[in-house]
Amino acid sequence: MEKIELKLIKEINKFGYIPVSKFMEISLFDPDDGYYVSQDPLGKEGDFVTSPEITQIFGEIIGAWSIDVINKINSKLSFQIIDLGGGKGTLLKDIERISKGNKISFGFLEINKNLIKIQKKNIPEAKHYKTISEIPNLPTIFIGNEFLDVFPIRQYKKVNKQWKEVFISIENNQFCYSYNNIESKKLFEDYKDTIPQGADFFEINTMTKKILTDISIFLKRNNGISLFIDYGYLKGYGDTLQAVKNHKFVDPLSFPGVSDLTAHVNFSHIIKEVNSLGMNFFGTTTQRDFLIKLGARERLEILKKSTNSEKTKIDLEEGLCRLIENSQMGELFKVCAMSPKNKLIPEGFD
Ligand SMILES: C[S@@+](CC[C@H](N)C(=O)[O-])C[C@H]1O[C@@H](n2cnc3c(N)ncnc32)[C@H](O)[C@@H]1O
Repeated sequence: MEKIELKLIKEINKFGYIPVSKFMEISLFDPDDGYYVSQDPLGKEGDFVTSPEITQIFGEIIGAWSIDVINKINSKLSFQIIDLGGGKGTLLKDIERISKGNKISFGFLEINKNLIKIQKKNIPEAKHYKTISEIPNLPTIFIGNEFLDVFPIRQYKKVNKQWKEVFISIENNQFCYSYNNIESKKLFEDYKDTIPQGADFFEINTMTKKILTDISIFLKRNNGISLFIDYGYLKGYGDTLQAVKNHKFVDPLSFPGVSDLTAHVNFSHIIKEVNSLGMNFFGTTTQRDFLIKLGARERLEILKKSTNSEKTKIDLEEGLCRLIENSQMGELFKVCAMSPKNKLIPEGFD
């Protein structure tokens, strides 16, 4: 039995059940054995592959977007680009390559010791931070690709026309779902107005408000923008808790600590929070529209012309296809941004 399973059992035994958010928190963020603290989740050898790992075009387009933002704000200022949950550092490396000549420093907000080692190899000069409050006060571009989806959610289900909270308990020596009175009443009330009509299942990310608040306080003080790219929905509802292990979906309760446990981002909650923080909101748009508007196809042609290798050309084409095809990541992945109230209008959003 994994150490995390023992920790979960101990926690459940205290009260008979724990909320889904606690199950995720222990599985993902336990300081010794949590998935995001101790595992090496990314890439072919890991559990899943992200956009920057699929093709360099992704990072290059985000890099061009960032330079445009810097030029629009004030290119004479020294900026920093902070990758929120930087994975292997591939995105920041691609951004760094195409932004040479600009006065930019680089940093990661990261908690995973294995990934920090890889990030240090990829961009030795980049700084590492564990919280937003450690980041130096400079105009900043935050990039969060598949960052918001990692944080714990609370789940609610309508049972006999009444909203109940979803909990995890143990039956026949196995983790299973149970439904009980709502424990997180304040959180539920805060987001109740966003529940679509007819919904019988609803999720709330417990960290969205805190993360957006920390970033917006920072940006109001220093200027800049925060870009988020993630899988999720604007109007939907339902159970989106998912676990991925070795590139396959597995039962979310079966491999705690050794599978990537995430939930889709409810972008209507991001909009709600950004508005209440008094920030400008841009988006949401789809990953497909964002990348195409910013010239991903033109970049593909340039890269194809720069190589004689047919295999490289095919890899580049297939990579971009995976990012922009609606049947793949093009539509499910959404892009949005927030900045302090000023005249900045970033590219890529109508
Ligand atoms: C799904 S991965 C995305 C990685 C990367 N952005 C990419 O696109 O390849 C999530 C990343 O967030 C990091 N992470 C998870 N929780 C975090 C936290 N509380 N603070 C900072 N980083 C975190 C993980 O270690 C990982 O690098």
